[in-house]
Amino acid sequence: MSLLPMLPLFLSFLLLPTLLYSASTYPYHTPQQKQPLNLHQRSSASAGGGSAATLPDSKRYEGSSDLVDLRYHMGPVLSTPMRLYVIWYGRWTPALQAPIRDFLLSLSDTSAAAPSAAQWWSTVSLYTDQTGSNVSRSLSIAAEVSDLAASRGRSLTRLSVQQLIADALKASSLPVDHRRGVYLVFTAPEIAMQDFCRAVCGFHYFTFASLVGHTLPYAWVGHSGAQCPGMCAYPFAVPSYMAGGGAAAMRPPNGDVGTDGMVSVVAHELAELSTNPLVNAWYAGEDPTAPTEIADLCEGVYGTGGGGGYTGQMSKDGQGRSYNINGRGGRRFLVQWVWSPVVKACVGPNAMV
Ligand SMILES: *[C@@H]1O[C@H](CO)[C@@H](O)[C@H](O)[C@H]1NC(C)=O
Repeated sequence: MSLLPMLPLFLSFLLLPTLLYSASTYPYHTPQQKQPLNLHQRSSASAGGGSAATLPDSKRYEGSSDLVDLRYHMGPVLSTPMRLYVIWYGRWTPALQAPIRDFLLSLSDTSAAAPSAAQWWSTVSLYTDQTGSNVSRSLSIAAEVSDLAASRGRSLTRLSVQQLIADALKASSLPVDHRRGVYLVFTAPEIAMQDFCRAVCGFHYFTFASLVGHTLPYAWVGHSGAQCPGMCAYPFAVPSYMAGGGAAAMRPPNGDVGTDGMVSVVAHELAELSTNPLVNAWYAGEDPTAPTEIADLCEGVYGTGGGGGYTGQMSKDGQGRSYNINGRGGRRFLVQWVWSPVVKACVGPNAMV
């Protein structure tokens, strides 16, 4: 549900603390940390090293495990083409917005070179509902609004995120789109958020009819650049408590640690929102208030050999900037892998086969 920052609690037994913290999905609960599942065996290949030829078959898919009980709970998935409605909250600049917008537009752009963002999304669209309909491969940005003045203040709560959506619907700056709408609230670097940095980097849920008038899927993701890049923009920044351990930050593909970190969190939340929009479709675990969803299962895995604290193999551009997928207009992004219901493992289009 929520993408949580890495917490020092687990440092004692992980070289890099990455995987699988789950939060309560219910907005009024305080997040609960779960014991990370130890899905990801440490590969003998070092991060960035190793070759496909030396990897045994079992390492072609990362984190593969029969112990993960990801199950379908009979609710809907987002099977109709998605229309994204973006609320840019706070002092966003075009330079910070552009990579995020391009990432959203890349998800269904099949013209980008492999490994592409659209190929990355094709794993998400392997999920179906009880009628056999797959998660849609089509996502478009239907409308964007800006709230430069931060009308609900510079310190938000989970409830005020819903109020922001309600405000935009009431003012008719965004439509009520029951069939296809996905509402995204992106907060600028100066905006504080309840539990941001301490417990969450992003979350998705659905709006309450009592508050917003409608039940609509939404997600919030914050720009962590000024507040906690080491927590929420990993691996472009590493937490200070890890810096002495030899962990080096990767260079961000679009040149901004907070923005490039946000892209991976947006990817995480969109994958989960589409497969579990009303929190009654695809998740693992017995507790629906703390579900482990398809991106939670692969947090920290970006390529072959990833898991257990290793990012896995990624590519570098001519300037030494790390990425694993291509997008529109020559953009590159680094996003985590997601769990495939077909091979029952974390997969991404940059896998070495
Ligand atoms: C729909 O999902 C099924 C089951 O995962 C998969 O076999 C099929 O390829 C998917 N179709 C598309 C268009 O993604």
